[in-house]
Amino acid sequence: MVEHLYIHIPFCPNICPYCAFYKESAPRERVETFLDALLKETERWSSRLRPKTIFFGGGTPSALSLPQFEKLLGGLHQRLDLSAVEEWTIEMNPATVALDKALLLRDSGINRVSMGVQSWDDAVLKTLGRTHDADKAEESFHLLREAGFENLSIDLIFGVPGQSLESWQKSLERSLRLAPEHLSAYGLTYEEDTEFFQQLGRGEMAPDEGLEADQFELTTAILESNGYDQYEVSNFSLPGREAQHNQAYWQGRDYLGLGPSAFSTVGELRWRNIRDTGIYNETTLGGKTAIDFEEDVSEELKLKERAAFGMRTLQGLSLSEGIPWNEHLIGLEHQGLVKQTSDRWLLTPRGRLLADSVSEIFV
Ligand SMILES: C[S@@+](CC[C@H](N)C(=O)[O-])C[C@H]1O[C@@H](n2cnc3c(N)ncnc32)[C@H](O)[C@@H]1O
Ligand code: SF4
Repeated sequence: MVEHLYIHIPFCPNICPYCAFYKESAPRERVETFLDALLKETERWSSRLRPKTIFFGGGTPSALSLPQFEKLLGGLHQRLDLSAVEEWTIEMNPATVALDKALLLRDSGINRVSMGVQSWDDAVLKTLGRTHDADKAEESFHLLREAGFENLSIDLIFGVPGQSLESWQKSLERSLRLAPEHLSAYGLTYEEDTEFFQQLGRGEMAPDEGLEADQFELTTAILESNGYDQYEVSNFSLPGREAQHNQAYWQGRDYLGLGPSAFSTVGELRWRNIRDTGIYNETTLGGKTAIDFEEDVSEELKLKERAAFGMRTLQGLSLSEGIPWNEHLIGLEHQGLVKQTSDRWLLTPRGRLLADSVSEIFV
């Protein structure tokens, strides 16, 4: 039985210039057809799925209307055994949060929200092309609490052009005042096929790596001193509030991804659904699988991936699993990026800053 389910909902009312996730702005009829296709894809898997974690990601899942959510959630409850679900997360954009919607989600079993606040500085939000301001984000956070959500996460982005260290510090502090159970702090990446990538190419944006490093160090210092564990390089939580779904990925567990662009890894096989909602809808409703990429996942590849992800976490990499990379790890130790304890390899604070380069040794 597969225990971890990801559902990709590829619609966004507004497209952000930095974002490379698969998404589109779509007319209502297309959303309706998508929901039919998604439920059909779910049906195909229903006998092999008993999820402990579910994650609605996107795109902006919260952009669905109330009737669309009723159809989706009712459809999932009909088709799946949801009795084992422990954590059910939905990504929400603050601009799309309303109390009636939040109540419906909560009543349907969703118990965790990851909200894309990004920044509490309106000037930074404008640079990021967001349609909400800081006050709307705060109001949305309170609405979610009012609806009964006891497990809330806030996404923030640092390294944004024009975002000073002080602005970032204020964003961290305003987040802390709301006491979320979880916080994700991502350094801005310039992803191909985004407007920001093009602007960078034209020299209209100039990343400041030194400032970004200072922002990252400040993040760790402020959040850790307020009781949050940095359980993964970009993820912080109060004890016991780590995202179970993400941890399942990092530990190399099987997971199923439904919807366009979603990846799945089940047993020895990994595949990705097609990154095109129109084709996904047509193919799935026609009774076929909408897969555009498939590969065998060997035990060796699984070990490499577990090592690369594990190294980014608080647990690090056990010495026995690290054996194939011992020489590299000792080299990194001399550079002050990793350290050895009695039973594992861990990132040092400097290593956390350069975690992507450290992970490269494993793959
Ligand atoms: C699928 S989006 C989140 C949900 C929702 N659509 C929203 O924007 O509020 C997941 C998260 O990835 C992060 N993200 C997206 N693109 C990024 C980029 N280029 N660099 C850093 N973080 C990024 C953002 O923090 C975002 O909240
Ligand atoms: S950041 Fe969120 S709202 Fe913006 S385009 Fe990406 S998925 Fe959509």
